[in-house]
Amino acid sequence: MARRSYPLSKVYGLLEPGPVVLVTTAHRGRRDVMTLSWHMMLDFEPPLVACVMSDRNHSFALLKASKECVINIPAVELAEKVVGCGNTSGAKIDKFTRFGLTPLPASKVGAPLIAECHASLECRVVDTRMVSKYGLFVLEVVQAWIDPAVKNPRTLHHRGYGSFMVAGKTIKLKSKMK
Ligand SMILES: Cc1cc2nc3c(=O)[nH]c(=O)nc-3n(C[C@H](O)[C@H](O)[C@H](O)COP(=O)(O)O)c2cc1C
Repeated sequence: MARRSYPLSKVYGLLEPGPVVLVTTAHRGRRDVMTLSWHMMLDFEPPLVACVMSDRNHSFALLKASKECVINIPAVELAEKVVGCGNTSGAKIDKFTRFGLTPLPASKVGAPLIAECHASLECRVVDTRMVSKYGLFVLEVVQAWIDPAVKNPRTLHHRGYGSFMVAGKTIKLKSKMK
């Protein structure tokens, strides 16, 4: 096998975790939605999720101040809106209006759910110890919603620089893993 050195700046695209998500935040009458792909599960129940959010993003300030957000999971049908929300700043525009995303009230947090997403996870920030060093927020999912009509959502998985893998077929194997 002919190996070649691969740029460290592209490594994340090889290891990219779960689906690209739309994180919504709200604080004192302001709301925002941003695209995020750097997240990982930390625990089963209550579900804990680590998210890396740059402090250059408008959402960062809203998340830090409100300590709440919603992780909305879009499928491939929303791909253009997902890229749009990842390339514009909510400091200047209302991205819900710009990209035609419908905010719905959440039950336990102030940030909105996105109606067009097949799953939404209402989250509270439970650990901020790594925020200043890595922009890493530990979130607890306090309420989860799914659209039962969506059976096999074709989620987006970021491979870097505008490339996305789209989830395909599901296979089932015997496993003791939860
Ligand atoms: C596919 C994709 C994945 C992204 N993942 C992240 C991420 O994990 N963390 C992050 O801080 N920004 C990420 N971004 C960039 C933000 O979405 C982008 O900076 C956005 O404009 C922030 O919006 P805001 O300023 O309204 O918060 C991603 C963008 C795209 C297109």
